[in-house]
Amino acid sequence: MNDIAGSLYQSLAEELRTAISDGRLPAGSRLPSVRETARNRSLSINTVLAAYRQLEARGQVEARPQSGYFVRSRLAEPAGPSESARPARALPAETAVLDRIEAVLAAQSDPATIDLSLACPTSRDFYPGKQLTRLMTETARRKPELLTDYSLPPGPLLLRREICRHARDLGMTLASENIILTNGCMEALQLALRAVTRPGDTVAIESPTYFNLISLADHLGLRAIEVPTHPGQGMSLDALELLLSEKRVQAVVSMPSVHNPLGTSMPVAAKKRLAALAKDWSVPVIEDALYAELQYATPLQPTVKSFDDDGWVILCTSYTKALAPGFRVGWMEAGRFRRRIAALKFSASLAQPAFLGEVIGAYLATGGYAQHLRRLRRLYAAQVDRLRGLIESGFPVGTRATEPTGGFLVWVELPEGCDGNRLCDDALRRDITITPGSLFSPSGRHRRHIRLSACHHFSDRHVHALLTLGELAREQLGG
Ligand SMILES: Cc1ncc(COP(=O)(O)O)c(C=O)c1O
Repeated sequence: MNDIAGSLYQSLAEELRTAISDGRLPAGSRLPSVRETARNRSLSINTVLAAYRQLEARGQVEARPQSGYFVRSRLAEPAGPSESARPARALPAETAVLDRIEAVLAAQSDPATIDLSLACPTSRDFYPGKQLTRLMTETARRKPELLTDYSLPPGPLLLRREICRHARDLGMTLASENIILTNGCMEALQLALRAVTRPGDTVAIESPTYFNLISLADHLGLRAIEVPTHPGQGMSLDALELLLSEKRVQAVVSMPSVHNPLGTSMPVAAKKRLAALAKDWSVPVIEDALYAELQYATPLQPTVKSFDDDGWVILCTSYTKALAPGFRVGWMEAGRFRRRIAALKFSASLAQPAFLGEVIGAYLATGGYAQHLRRLRRLYAAQVDRLRGLIESGFPVGTRATEPTGGFLVWVELPEGCDGNRLCDDALRRDITITPGSLFSPSGRHRRHIRLSACHHFSDRHVHALLTLGELAREQLGG
């Protein structure tokens, strides 16, 4: 390459580097194709290629076969937790925690608020609304008795069969007679905990964990041990095995496939080990698989339940995140606890809304579900890329964030000196909601973390809100 071409490629590389560092080209975005850039700037293909390769050599972009050059993320994963499990605690329903949850929930319903907190897609585009509406009309016409009958358990066979058919994608071979339908995943978790524990018992939970699980355990009079949970590895199984060997826990609750709030998954080998631990120590594992079908990569990684050959794993899930939150259709496969859980379910809420169950069953039978999931996975992967890009360009240096394997949640670790609770309160005053990390731990750990969600269409207001969050975090650092 001669001197002129050399300086041309250097200045193109420099220009792109600036666009990457000031966020005009965020992480995950695709550079214009080599051909397009060459044409638009009247440069030779070799000159453009040399600039792109220089960025690649410096780790700023990556070449993806047949797709082009993409801006790489510089965000590191949050540091892993220390290895010791936290002691069991009676779970105080701290009023400060409840106040903060209430403040965030109240702000969410205000149209002026930019919501980066809610873990539930709000836009209709994320759901197959049209198809569900059509199926509701058809179902009401075809089976009017579903609106008038008292539909006692086990509930619509079509739905239970379809659940089993789709469960095969997650490595599970289930029988329709063993499926217990529930009001969302939350009821399934509640029934599972009630079936396998008594007040005063201790349950091993992940840290961080889904905050509603913490208050559920509290209301059931349980004590919790927080087991360190690493974004790349999931719940520490060494720490858990120690607890099991010391007979300190009566049940385990885990989200091995696309964790809330981490967004990441436990490796398959660890899932196998978790299933084996449950059997070896005769301690039930309650597996919350709510986001499992939203894994980006296919074939989907199997659940822990798929390695359960002795009924110690209770799988709980629902169609809240992938299909229709308003339907509240959930289900569980309770292994060796099926009879007890079916009896508890009967005394708790008798029957399920059979009409809604039938509609979901009909939808799952159409083949449209697989297509819908494929679209959703692509959409969420792109949304999460965008969110991470904005975190990278807008948040202070030293911020880390998880690289989710599915779903729409990102767990952010702020630099030393920042406080997630304070950031949540400051953000609320600017009409922005986020979820502070401390809500995901019964002992208020994860004070330097926040959870952000990417289940809304990114408008300019969202981008502005994220940049504002970054500024607020920087202010905490005094700069
Ligand atoms: C991990 C997890 N489990 C359970 C639930 C409750 O699910 P459902 O709305 O189906 O009751 C949620 C809701 O956000 C969740 O994130």
